[in-house]
Amino acid sequence: KKEAMVDRFGRTIRYVRLSVTDRCDFRCVYCMSEEMTFLPRQQVLTLEEIGQVAQAFVDLGVEHIRLTGGEPLVRRDVDSLVSQLGHLKSVSGLRDLSMTTNGSQLPKWADTLQAGGLDRLNISLDSLDPERFTRITRTGQLQQVIEGIDAAKSAGFERIKLNAVIMKGRNDDEVVDLVRFARSREIDISFIEEMPLGHISDHGRDETFCSSDEVRAMIEQQYELLPCGEVTGGPSRYYRFADEHASRIGFISPHSHNFCGDCNRVRVTVEGRLLLCLGNEHSVDLRQVLRDYPGDQERLKQTIVEAMDLKPERHHFTTDGDVQIVRFMNATGG
Ligand code: GTP
Ligand code: 5AD
Ligand code: SF4
Repeated sequence: KKEAMVDRFGRTIRYVRLSVTDRCDFRCVYCMSEEMTFLPRQQVLTLEEIGQVAQAFVDLGVEHIRLTGGEPLVRRDVDSLVSQLGHLKSVSGLRDLSMTTNGSQLPKWADTLQAGGLDRLNISLDSLDPERFTRITRTGQLQQVIEGIDAAKSAGFERIKLNAVIMKGRNDDEVVDLVRFARSREIDISFIEEMPLGHISDHGRDETFCSSDEVRAMIEQQYELLPCGEVTGGPSRYYRFADEHASRIGFISPHSHNFCGDCNRVRVTVEGRLLLCLGNEHSVDLRQVLRDYPGDQERLKQTIVEAMDLKPERHHFTTDGDVQIVRFMNATGG
């Protein structure tokens, strides 16, 4: 039995995204519809079960774990999961523990997360205009997130990255302002093309589509960018500033620059579905293994290794406005 995860296309999986909740205090227009129902508690993995899944992946060679949601910081006791995983770094091959958050709870949590061993934080920020910010997130307050970003800086996080989903007519005129904001705080920023997950009611995704090339052209009117050229295994292509400023600019372009060829990752939903690709439905139910065979880590690992054969070669997202995946992003874990 091989103790590493390699798929049919020779890709070695070293990165797993674990969703800890489908709930969120925001309702971003590209992620959720206005009316959302959330999963009943019994269907959601307990923190202990999530810990067991993490341990199995690390035993199988995973080096990076990212906690996602929904909004991970609305899950009760998520800080104890962070310190449990933080501890794994000193006794296993886990090298990097990160979280993707909307930032709203960071004023409260940043110090605890840093002390618990979290290495990196990605924080969503789509607009610097308070009214627009609330229009895009439906329930979010810009000020709270800015305070969250600053709390993360003061807590001593060295790697902070902003995420901005750029939509024509909504925030495409703010690209350079967002870059300037990231530079002012010496943090990185990624610009993301919206992906067709879930039936959203807010806008036609074909009408608001804005390609990474367009976004980059806007930035290059103000700043000279140089490609970093590294292959990360993740979806982002990174650039740096010619003026040697420390911030980096990433582009996540599922539509215009397919990155699946060197994909290094899988994800687990909060229901314990191991999803082999964000843009396909191929999945394996880990919750059933966890609950039918409690404590049987060998069986869990075997299930995960066998699942690798289901990882598809690539996603087939299009920009024509069709929803290709019915599950919403918050139920998927980004
Ligand atoms: P690192 O690579 O760990 O820095 O993180 P990231 O930028 O991949 O993660 P983050 O959670 O900040 O996600 C940013 C965007 O990338 C979100 O829109 C995710 O949905 C998207 N994303 C992350 N992984 C994948 C993937 O495997 N496929 C696709 N299509 N999108 C992804
Ligand atoms: N397409 C692209 N990115 C999305 N996100 C949420 N929904 C979508 C979507 N449909 C982003 C959020 C967050 C990250 C986890 O995923 O902005 O930064
Ligand atoms: Fe919440 Fe993130 Fe989805 Fe926005 S994108 S609703 S912050 S999970």
